[in-house]
Amino acid sequence: MSERTYRVIQWMTGDVGQVGVRHFAQCPVFDLVGVLVHNKDKVGKDAGEIAGVAPVGVTATDDVESIIGLDADCVFYTPVIMDVDTVCRLLRSGKNVVTTSGFFHPTEKFRDGGDKIRAACQEGGTSFHAGGIHPGYAGDILPLTLARVTSRIDKVELWEVVNVLTDAPMDHIDWMGFGKDKDQFLSEPTILGLGIPFFAQSMQMVADGLGVRIDDVTAADVKAAVATEDIPHAEGAIARGTVAAQHHEWTAWVDGNPLIVYHAIYLTGGPDQLDPAWDWGRTRYRVVIEGDPSTELTMHGLVRADGTMTHPGYDWTAMGAINAIPDVCDAPPGWLTHLDLGLVAPRGLVRT
Ligand SMILES: NC(=O)c1ccc[n+]([C@@H]2O[C@H](COP(=O)([O-])OP(=O)(O)OC[C@H]3O[C@@H](n4cnc5c(N)ncnc54)[C@H](OP(=O)(O)O)[C@@H]3O)[C@@H](O)[C@H]2O)c1
Repeated sequence: MSERTYRVIQWMTGDVGQVGVRHFAQCPVFDLVGVLVHNKDKVGKDAGEIAGVAPVGVTATDDVESIIGLDADCVFYTPVIMDVDTVCRLLRSGKNVVTTSGFFHPTEKFRDGGDKIRAACQEGGTSFHAGGIHPGYAGDILPLTLARVTSRIDKVELWEVVNVLTDAPMDHIDWMGFGKDKDQFLSEPTILGLGIPFFAQSMQMVADGLGVRIDDVTAADVKAAVATEDIPHAEGAIARGTVAAQHHEWTAWVDGNPLIVYHAIYLTGGPDQLDPAWDWGRTRYRVVIEGDPSTELTMHGLVRADGTMTHPGYDWTAMGAINAIPDVCDAPPGWLTHLDLGLVAPRGLVRT
């Protein structure tokens, strides 16, 4: 394992990028050499100030060309939406790219972009990798890790349960459609539904890891529960009778059987506040393998002494990708999926 330091650029400082800035500032394995922002108010500020920590000595810029011109080993690329051509420019400029924004595992939907990325990697002698919490960990690495200790798999099922009011940024309320009329909500495309191609990449990774072929990925009708009372939150309330919880379900079919099933359940209340009275419990990821032996694994934040629970969703998202940076930088050029990387050796996590 190399003990070198990796020069990194933070590309955008949203929820995930700020975790990056904080980690690069405190972990001796990384040397933060540049920070790109989009928001004009952030330009000229020290990256530490943007990320809520002490100054780190790197000033944020919105000058893309100056960032691309920097000498760095890797860009932690976390914009709202990935721009494949920009990623290819970075790769061709000799910088590896690690991202949480997409291209987790090759599927038909991402074929053209994937081909461009592979070509740019060869040209620049660089590597590309995408990771996160989901896609990129909970629905793919965790099931494959569990699979290692089973002898037969009939079904892999994942539940992502998120209490939006306690464990997600407040903007999720609006953009996920909470507080909408139920019929209107169910008749419109949903943000999570639009994400199916991304989650299908995780399903593909599980299938590739298990050596089977997915025939089709289907989506069940979205289900919604309404608020039985006004549910207050920091910026107002989910009005009684409007959408207060949603359940999405996607299935990957193999040889006519539902081999991989993902559930995404986003809630703003408990069973006494919902109609139907859904009781999904706390924010968590739960993986169940039905087979021999049937096995379950649940991942959630630490329950504190006062009974509340941490939900480090953005930390998990950022670190799932960041911890692969050294291995990605040290690897031969190409689009490196989790299956290519194998067991990643995170560096610099134990600090005295
Ligand atoms: N795989 C996973 O598990 C997972 C989980 C969560 C998120 N993600 C993905 O990770 C990425 C980052 O997520 P996030 O929560 O950090 O995103 P975010 O907070 O919404 O924003 C990312 C940043 O993009 C910049 N930006 C905003 N509007 C822009 C525009 N119109 N043009 C160019 N840049 C713009 C802003 O940077 P500045 O503020 O620096 O100006 C913003 O803070 C997203 O692609 C998201 O889908 C993946």
